[in-house]
Amino acid sequence: MVLSGKRILLIISGGIAAYKSLDLIRRLRERGASVRPVMTSGAQQFVTPLAVGALAADHVFTDLFSRQDEQDVGHIRLARDCDLVLVAPATADLLAKMANGLADDLASTVLLATDRPVLVAPAMNPHMWNHAATKRNVATLKTDGIRFIGPMAGEMAESREAGVGRMAEPLEIVAAAEALLDTTPKPLAGRKAIVTSGPTHEPIDPVRYIANRSSGRQGHAIAAALARLGADVTLVSGPVSIADPAGVSTVHVERAEEMRDAVLTALPADIAVMVAAVADWRVASASDQKIKKHPGESIPTLALTENPDILKTIGHHTMRPKLVIGFAAETQDVDNNAKAKLARKGADIIVANDVSPVTGIMGGVRNRVKIVSHNGIEQWPDMAKDEVASKLAALIADRFRQG
Ligand code: C5P
Repeated sequence: MVLSGKRILLIISGGIAAYKSLDLIRRLRERGASVRPVMTSGAQQFVTPLAVGALAADHVFTDLFSRQDEQDVGHIRLARDCDLVLVAPATADLLAKMANGLADDLASTVLLATDRPVLVAPAMNPHMWNHAATKRNVATLKTDGIRFIGPMAGEMAESREAGVGRMAEPLEIVAAAEALLDTTPKPLAGRKAIVTSGPTHEPIDPVRYIANRSSGRQGHAIAAALARLGADVTLVSGPVSIADPAGVSTVHVERAEEMRDAVLTALPADIAVMVAAVADWRVASASDQKIKKHPGESIPTLALTENPDILKTIGHHTMRPKLVIGFAAETQDVDNNAKAKLARKGADIIVANDVSPVTGIMGGVRNRVKIVSHNGIEQWPDMAKDEVASKLAALIADRFRQG
């Protein structure tokens, strides 16, 4: 957890998007960061210092000339005793002050006095964002090393107007803060990875489908772990109920054929990790209408046909990624099945796990895997799926280090 123990000075300036700052404080704190708020007078017109202070569990600083605050902390210490200065929302006015070095209130003074990284999340009307003056200020701030998240496109809160100017969502701001403060080495920088995850849904008719118990937890965790090591990751996900991982571009699909197409579109790549529990068969001709139950009539039989094997396709492709990894969910004779799969699928590594019901692995949060490669079989201990993902990403980085 990158934000754990990090001290964030959150400057809230005066825009309607300030209501999202309340949620932002919660999201930062639930990741272990402490949040010290500074509010401009404009911000206090939109949200109260009481609400901000209660969520941050800290004193809210509002006044440059408060004798008490100066005695207790002081604006220079406020500007320096933190790991990150985050401005959300950042109004056009505050950006203009920052770009010109003005310091006429506590927020702008802190921003001029700080020697810490600064991340801003602008929020304003699209016309204000596109104004030549704002463009000049943003260009200046970027040259000065200020980092930006957003603004995003969409409908504005205060008018039905659409355009670029909406503040990034709290979780997008959190991800940007994490990326900025993340100091872990990036051994997979410049490498492209494709990961599949989740089940596939194979339609029977418009309302029914064939599926399996895969949750997508392991595949999503692997996509996130590769991204943390600097890889450019495309995650092709079947229908799951978990969130898209941060820092990864996720393509959502339903059927195996759609998953294959999305994977092939994402080529070329250096790494392919095929974790999805792809349905082996689909209904040969899915009905476009709901199949009706008629009393006295015979029960329908479903004729199945084979789905494309995505791992095998990738493993034998002319644009085969340098490292191809598959998973083997087996309920019996795990080692031999995994070894056979290595050859048949054209993979470099098969991550084998025993998904027999007694293990509770399928759909669960823990996993116990064996790494089967041409070098032999290595048993890993029982771990959380996140830990399996980190260890596998490290192993992948190691393979590239060795060439
Ligand atoms: O053949 P089996 O389903 O056991 O192989 C599992 C591995 O193959 C997994 O990595 C899975 O993602 C991949 N696979 C696939 N396309 C299929 C079936 C399996 O990519 N149609």
